[in-house]
Amino acid sequence: MKILVTGGCGFIGANFIRHLFSVHGDGVDIVNLDKLTYAGNPKNLAGIDARPNYRFVQGDICDADAVREAMADSEAVVNFAAETHVDRSILGPDSFLRTDILGVFVLLEEALKRKVKAFVQVSTDEVYGECLEGSFDEEATLNPRSPYSASKAGGDRLAYSYFHTYGAPVVITRASNNFGPYQYPEKLVPLFVTNALEDKPLPVYGDGMQVRDWLFVEDHCRAIALLLEKGTPGEAYNIGGGNERTNMVITRAILKTLGKPESLIQYVKDRPAHDRRYSLNFDKVRALGYVPSADFEAKLEATILWYRDHAEWWKELKSGEFRQYYETQYGKRIR
Ligand code: NAD
Ligand code: TYD
Repeated sequence: MKILVTGGCGFIGANFIRHLFSVHGDGVDIVNLDKLTYAGNPKNLAGIDARPNYRFVQGDICDADAVREAMADSEAVVNFAAETHVDRSILGPDSFLRTDILGVFVLLEEALKRKVKAFVQVSTDEVYGECLEGSFDEEATLNPRSPYSASKAGGDRLAYSYFHTYGAPVVITRASNNFGPYQYPEKLVPLFVTNALEDKPLPVYGDGMQVRDWLFVEDHCRAIALLLEKGTPGEAYNIGGGNERTNMVITRAILKTLGKPESLIQYVKDRPAHDRRYSLNFDKVRALGYVPSADFEAKLEATILWYRDHAEWWKELKSGEFRQYYETQYGKRIR
């Protein structure tokens, strides 16, 4: 299979490329189209770049020429490329609308011309908005409340429309919060782990009792690979981890694993429109054979230790553009 992966230098995209090569070895050809925004890091694919069946194209999914060049021989497309951080979408939604909606449009147009056999649009559980009780299945109403989730919902529904209108072989995936190696240190887990390692405050929004369903990134990658093969075009699939935890539980686990004091916890002003809880019913992907890992605490601990043991990876990221972002996002909130 010849696959175009977009956003392959980001957190999940890089783990997905690693997953495909570890399972298929020389039996898969991968082109990775990535703009290398602040979140894209070629080092996430160290050791992969020398493979003869791997090609990197630096480019924007909104740029039709770059997309044409990258998709030239592709039989399938998996679109991870996106602006992904809710807090940044609140500070400046423009790039979210561009990449997460317009970029999907450009990819879909080229995929139709190329007659690709499969197109996986990587969406998110955040398109449903908060779930105060029970769990959302794929039929639930979409109720996005941040510029990030609204943009992702736009891309999600545009992909859906290309199936119904033009017959594009689109499968939509909606996963819950991922954790694992190579996550840019702005999201909860890597931010709190690296702050704790630096003896800096952990800024907990509001009361910290918000709930997320934590999904180990390798489980997510396995589920996407499964859906690439077995997903029904025109359908959406939830991908959960079955690990609903409050942010405080995650925060305390991080401190305990690293042997750091709870005095590092700082409750700060809440995020606007902060979704209280996400919860997915993912029976539909389970029916295709997906089983999430059962050992959440062990996977979380291994992830925390990965950041501890790869300080050179995140210190470089935290010293660049990140400083300005951190000051804008947290400067006034942290005492
Ligand atoms: P990330 O922010 O770590 O990486 C995004 C990647 O996309 C980066 O490499 C970046 O350079 C690239 N990119 C951004 N704009 C681009 C553009 N215009 N053209 C080409 N490349 C561009 O994101 P992630 O956490 O790996 O998320 C990947 C996908 O999974 C996203 O679509 C996201 O919405 C979705 N998702 C993420 C989570 C999560 O918990 N992280 C959960 C569910 C769904
Ligand atoms: P995040 O990793 O940004 O993912 P998302 O908002 O897409 O779920 O945040 C996960 C949870 O952690 C969310 O409830 C917000 C909270 N959070 C904090 O309390 N403090 C922080 O500094 C960050 C980044 C997140």
